[in-house]
Amino acid sequence: MKNNFKLKKNIFYNKKVLITGHTGFKGSWLSLWMHKLGAKVIGISKDIPTKPSHFLSIGLNKFIKNKIIDIQNKKQLSNIIKKSKPDFIFHLAAQAIVKKSYEDPIDTWKTNLVGTINLLDSLRNINKKLIVVLITSDKVYKNLETTIGYKEDDLLGGVDPYGASKSATEIAINSYIKSYFNSNKNLVQICVARAGNVIGGGDWSYNRLVPDCMRAWLNNKSVIIRNPNSTRPWQHVLEVLNGYIQLAIKLKKDNKLHGQTFNFGPLNKNYKVSQILKEMKKKWPQINWNVRNKVKFFENNLLNLNSNKSLKKLKWKCKLNFSETIFLTADWYKNFQTYKKSKNKILKKSVDQISYYEKLI
Ligand SMILES: NC(=O)c1ccc[n+]([C@@H]2O[C@H](COP(=O)([O-])OP(=O)(O)OC[C@H]3O[C@@H](n4cnc5c(N)ncnc54)[C@H](O)[C@@H]3O)[C@@H](O)[C@H]2O)c1
Repeated sequence: MKNNFKLKKNIFYNKKVLITGHTGFKGSWLSLWMHKLGAKVIGISKDIPTKPSHFLSIGLNKFIKNKIIDIQNKKQLSNIIKKSKPDFIFHLAAQAIVKKSYEDPIDTWKTNLVGTINLLDSLRNINKKLIVVLITSDKVYKNLETTIGYKEDDLLGGVDPYGASKSATEIAINSYIKSYFNSNKNLVQICVARAGNVIGGGDWSYNRLVPDCMRAWLNNKSVIIRNPNSTRPWQHVLEVLNGYIQLAIKLKKDNKLHGQTFNFGPLNKNYKVSQILKEMKKKWPQINWNVRNKVKFFENNLLNLNSNKSLKKLKWKCKLNFSETIFLTADWYKNFQTYKKSKNKILKKSVDQISYYEKLI
């Protein structure tokens, strides 16, 4: 693939970047972006979680190293890290779906909490400088249903099994940092990144708004919406990934960031599910939806993130407004609908969207 992004000037060029969860929604975009930056990407995932998937539809398996293992298996995970000797790790592998966390809490806890502990424990004997960005979620906060945005040092206390497992993961991360990665000779620099609901092309997960809509609309069906007034800090996947990337860059330059946590929230206010649907309809007039208010499990209605720290310390902020976010998302799926048999055309759209975004930052 032709690489046209400040090729030799970026700190990822020719570096080994290990990405867990590389077959998932965010992980596949991050792997593509890192590959575009000239990094040698090693991906770790237990499976390809959806069909179709962004990962396979752009042929990512052909141009990065893929390791299919379960991060619950410490030995396999440690071996890959030991052999690959990465310069950077982005840890995204997780059981990331709230509804699934109710159906299978044990697997959710094991993957999210024990999987992250397995990763941290595998780093204890690392003898080269390593930058680690661990991805959790806005759902780690104790939700007070307030409109004031949560700051990094606010109370943790996720309620549903997914949120709770991610809160517990953060306590474990903090414990590992304080217990094993806090000496003067420490080579492993770790930060935590929290973001909210991410949208963008290529997400095919079940029980998420945009993929559920896309599955229905690409088959000319109406979609069932369970909570049209629910608001979320929606933002485009590239905004959040840029946050993770900026965090890794700054952490490499400044070890005072080691052990810190950063929020990456959207530019403006939160938007309702119904506003997303109406914005989509502007670009895709034939789409339709029906509301069925039966919520079968507990889900928080309100969650805002305060991202002032990321703005101040990382100079990170969102670049896309609401309508651009929806436009990029709808544009990707429309391209997929037209060219679903052509990996090159789908890859080109994803690369073009990254290039477009790179020009904004
Ligand atoms: N998508 C969002 O809106 C959102 C919001 C907040 C936080 N997050 C967090 O961002 C990260 C990525 O989310 P996503 O939406 O790309 O998730 P996803 O569900 O699309 O992908 C999950 C990835 O993790 C891998 N995985 C799952 N269990 C595993 C295991 N036991 N061993 C190895 N690999 C395993 C899957 O194979 C897949 O590659 C997660 O940590 C998630 O909690 C996502």
